Amino acid sequence: MQTIKIKDLSFKPFIAEDELQGLIKNVAQKINNDYNGKTPLFIGILNGSFMFMGDLMKSIDLECLVSFVKLASYEGTETTGKVNKLIGLNESLEGQDVIIVEDIVDTGNTLEKLHQIIQEKKPNSVKIATLLFKPDPYKKNFKIDYIAKEIPNAFVVGYGLDYDGFGRNLPSIYVLNQ
Ligand code: IMP
Repeated sequence: MQTIKIKDLSFKPFIAEDELQGLIKNVAQKINNDYNGKTPLFIGILNGSFMFMGDLMKSIDLECLVSFVKLASYEGTETTGKVNKLIGLNESLEGQDVIIVEDIVDTGNTLEKLHQIIQEKKPNSVKIATLLFKPDPYKKNFKIDYIAKEIPNAFVVGYGLDYDGFGRNLPSIYVLNQ
């Protein structure tokens, strides 16, 4: 693998395809064990989670449901300011065992909003699976249940992750050349 250029920035190879696939199989195995006999609903957060979800699902041997949502923020009334809502969630979550599937957790702000919205829909349980986790910038207290890999606080692209919309289709992960 070589250095690549996306728009104005240069990126170098960081996590190879083989390593990624192995890490994802490990996560799948843990989920298979933890949810044995259950029928969880996996909710992928678009756009970034589409590749991770695709590969993760190939190694999940549970009877399960799969759905995708987008977190949209819009201007509410003057007093409420920014409001977040989930787009694309058609299923009822009541009584469901939900597993949120994220591409990367950085500060945890996105996850906190998602978690809040999902909890309001009265699921039986909510767990979080993320491909990548940056422990340094993470500012929240709640637990991330499944992490494929922890990475340093650097900007990465590929395998669903983008720089200004590009790079999502790369089958491996690259890190910004400093
Ligand atoms: P958080 O709300 O700070 O945890 O950020 C989460 C979102 O920011 C992710 O779902 C990504 O879309 C984006 N993000 C965070 N770090 C990176 C990165 O290194 N590369 C690409 N996107 C990132």
